[in-house]
Amino acid sequence: MMYECRVAGTGRYVPEKVLTNADLERMVETSDEWIVKRTGIRERRIAAENESTSDLGLEAARMALNNAGLEPGDLDAIILATLTPDTYCPAGACYVQHLLGAVNACAFDLSAACTGFVYGITVGSSLVRTGLHRNVLVIGAETLSRFIDYTERNTCILFGDGAGAAVLSRAEEGSEARTLDHYLRADGAGTELIIMEGGGARRPSTHATVDEKLHFLSMQGNDVFKFATKSMQTLIETALERNGISIDDLDLVIPHQVNSRIIDSVLRKIDLPKDKIYLNLERYGNTSAASVPMALHEAVEEGRVQSGSLILLVAFGAGLTWGYNLVRW
Ligand code: UT7
Repeated sequence: MMYECRVAGTGRYVPEKVLTNADLERMVETSDEWIVKRTGIRERRIAAENESTSDLGLEAARMALNNAGLEPGDLDAIILATLTPDTYCPAGACYVQHLLGAVNACAFDLSAACTGFVYGITVGSSLVRTGLHRNVLVIGAETLSRFIDYTERNTCILFGDGAGAAVLSRAEEGSEARTLDHYLRADGAGTELIIMEGGGARRPSTHATVDEKLHFLSMQGNDVFKFATKSMQTLIETALERNGISIDDLDLVIPHQVNSRIIDSVLRKIDLPKDKIYLNLERYGNTSAASVPMALHEAVEEGRVQSGSLILLVAFGAGLTWGYNLVRW
């Protein structure tokens, strides 16, 4: 027997420290004008020295649980989507599980870069729908600032730190609110386009890998830009087609927050009105796996997602990976 799964609560946490475009002007050869025009970003958050990915994720998780009216002990699973875990071993999700006191939950990380939260909702929803689990916490959290080279203007202007979370629960019988459709894809032909090459099994950390700055995230911006634009458009079109719905049926699209030019270009191509897209990248930049759940939580808080709303979460990123979740709220 299959069950239905719904989103029971969301949460978000961002570190206090703000890094503005004016701050970046003092660090690399760039300008507020260039950054705003080319990306739409004005500022991002940076984790404090004593904060790591699990700390950010923990705060978002607590808020999501509270909003779902659940206790940590009610959780059956914790999925942490991140490309910046506290440690590669053990999984970052285990730190969250312990700090949260989720004594009945299994915990694991999910590595799908900026698409991580959308992958996580797909896995979590599947666990709930099969009946194996009743409550699954999906977190997207990143401390990207630890992996960014702040002398490299191509990347340091884009990325920021933060966390978002959602609790997935078995839906009561007859509930209209539920996850409706999931779609995930990957293309490993694009592994080199966004990569943190050092520190893994292929290039274990040595003085040389550090000297070569291979522990930092590197990105071929132009190629990624083209991939992002194409995949975002394809994802929205696929969601409409697969579910026999039109743009009018969608209440809100919550895309990975990466660059306002990517979003504007997609809006023009598919005739999606601007008020149907949620954007907060101006304040946070690109927070990878945290970007969609942070935006989702803010959209809920602002009343842009309400009971009965049909929403589409869309993400794309390193791997390459891309995917969507269609959800009735
Ligand atoms: O979440 C993972 C997914 N990531 C993405 O989707 C990122 C997608 N890519 C982008 O958002 C854009 O490619 C960037 C924002 C990274 C770069 O914007 P662009 O419009 O593609 O710039 P560009 O790399 O083509 O560079 C244009 C010019 C160059 O100067 P010249 O050669 O025309 O003289 C760059 O050197 O802008 C220069 N430039 C900058 N100038 C001031 C590049 N970065 C900067 C900068 N400030 N930060």
